[in-house]
Amino acid sequence: MLSNKKLVFGITGGIAAYKTAELLRRSQDLGARIDVVMTESATRFISPVTFQALSGRTVYTDLWDARVPNNMAHIQLSRDADAILIAPASTNFMAKLANGLADDLLSTLCIARGHCPLLIAPAMNREMWLHPATQRNVEQLRRDGVHILGPGSGDQACGETGDGRMLEPAQLLAELTAFFQPKLLAGKRVLITAGPTSEPIDPVRVISNRSSGKMGYAIARAAQEAGAQVTLVSGPVALNAPYQVSRINVETARQMHATVMSQVHHADIFISVAAVADWYVSNASDIKIKKTSEQATPDLQFSPNPDILAEVAALKDGPYCVGFAAETDNLIEHAQAKRQRKNVPLLVANLAQRAMNADDTELVLFDEQGHTQWPAQDKLLAARQLVKNIAQRL
Ligand code: C5P
Repeated sequence: MLSNKKLVFGITGGIAAYKTAELLRRSQDLGARIDVVMTESATRFISPVTFQALSGRTVYTDLWDARVPNNMAHIQLSRDADAILIAPASTNFMAKLANGLADDLLSTLCIARGHCPLLIAPAMNREMWLHPATQRNVEQLRRDGVHILGPGSGDQACGETGDGRMLEPAQLLAELTAFFQPKLLAGKRVLITAGPTSEPIDPVRVISNRSSGKMGYAIARAAQEAGAQVTLVSGPVALNAPYQVSRINVETARQMHATVMSQVHHADIFISVAAVADWYVSNASDIKIKKTSEQATPDLQFSPNPDILAEVAALKDGPYCVGFAAETDNLIEHAQAKRQRKNVPLLVANLAQRAMNADDTELVLFDEQGHTQWPAQDKLLAARQLVKNIAQRL
């Protein structure tokens, strides 16, 4: 996800610097090549040796570093970089950046960076963050085109609680990977259903299906990366909500239906990925059904669940609708028929036995013109391709 990306990590003085070691490792796992530049104060919190050992590359701390052949590390380092990330960014460093000061390698490099994008992850005590001078500097940096990541809120190393925590490495990694995605859905609101539904038989037993939620969650992440505001209505799955996606948890198809109908009026796009149970048990018991004898089986009665996608697709002035279909056989005929029956402009099909719970998927897109098959690929890559495809259709 960061392959071929050349990054500069700038580290300034803050205890959150220890988290940047983890961030560097995870970014490298995703294929990034990282040069590390530290301020003098940063080296009081964590040793350059740590970053040198992790990155396998020279760590820069000095504007006058004689190892750089032309003695111009401040120019050289950003020239072939895809982005500079300052994490942690201290109060002092932000003030220097906002005012164009250049009195050490990292601040000089930032001023000399030309068109290289600059992302900063503030990390400071809550009073320092709230101080009018800091807030003024944040505004100035935003106006200057600097991307401010966070800060988060919560317990601080000083013992106080509030805004100013550096984002966690996983959150910064999500910010970093999203940064390189084109903002094809900027300003759009996307509503997505994902996962299975779970239909109670009694308080301890349910009927569900094998959907893992991976595809719907990947699409939620891809849409968020593309700049959309994403709401994910999710059945029970073992996945964390993607970064900055607002998730509403539901159990049954009827709960999913009610939630979608309450959210859909805000949505520009509705992507129905959930494997919604077709029936619910209409005589579900309030107490656990007892096994009376070895032979006796419960007499379950079923009623159809509402078809959420068809109902949304039939709304007047409703969102652009995308359906999914997981088929075990005759994929083309079933998917074509389903697209027409549900009356959606785009239906995405895959083979249930290959896609369910897998990390890869082979999608086939059905629209008015016919169908297009995509090669098997990782679900996040498929999701990004789908988001791009939907953006083109809007
Ligand atoms: O009819 P079938 O379940 O195969 O249709 C699949 C598509 O319809 C998926 O997009 C699924 O999320 C949606 N669906 C729905 N409500 C249902 C059944 C399916 O929204 N009750």
